[in-house]
Amino acid sequence: MKIPDIIIAIDGCSSTGKSSFAKLLAGKLSFLYLDSGALYRGVTLFAQEQGLISKDNAISDCLRGRLSELDLHFDGQGRTCIGDRCVEKEIRSMEVSSQVSPISALAYVREFVDARLHAFAAHGRVVMDGRDIGTAVFPDAEFKIFMTASEEVRAQRRFDELVSKGENPKIEDVLANLRERDYIDSHRETHPLCRAADAFELDNSEMTFGEELAWAIGVLQGKFNVL
Ligand code: DC
Repeated sequence: MKIPDIIIAIDGCSSTGKSSFAKLLAGKLSFLYLDSGALYRGVTLFAQEQGLISKDNAISDCLRGRLSELDLHFDGQGRTCIGDRCVEKEIRSMEVSSQVSPISALAYVREFVDARLHAFAAHGRVVMDGRDIGTAVFPDAEFKIFMTASEEVRAQRRFDELVSKGENPKIEDVLANLRERDYIDSHRETHPLCRAADAFELDNSEMTFGEELAWAIGVLQGKFNVL
């Protein structure tokens, strides 16, 4: 299928399966996949490792100045790196998950991440997932998808993901973290999670990846008149 050099923006709550779907779609279209949440997670890991988050979860104002020394990027295989260290595993831990929402609510952190996202997507042909991609980062993205799924399905997915990575979470902690993040992400002042008016909604609670992909390809074919 020959489609133009567009940007595809996929937004939605935590654990709606955005990244798995975005990766699949990017692979199918030979587009680049960019995980914006991974960058917020990278900033959170940096803040934790630099001792910039206190025991009572207060974030030090020093983080703003210290961001200039944070070399956060993706390597050739799309893995998140700080300098030459791959931090994919660390950024997916419960510890990072529990502090990423307050970090991502800071306007200067959003500016730091947005600048990187714009640089990575300079030439289009990108599928990017997050919370504010279609509303704030790329409001002119040619194809916007807003993903939803039931809370139970989302908690189970996140639980399975953590278990498969060797963690030993409690389902009630996973659910509590999910609810807390959804609340903070959709109520923050700067670029809260919300559906763009021109986004297509995709509820994948009971869909397979194959069905999701077929749906997206169908929409693209209709939009761009290509086969
Ligand atoms: O997609 P994720 O769960 O890995 O994202 C981690 C956190 O980053 C999420 O709780 C909210 C924040 N985030 C955001 O505020 N804006 C984005 N575009 C992507 C993620």
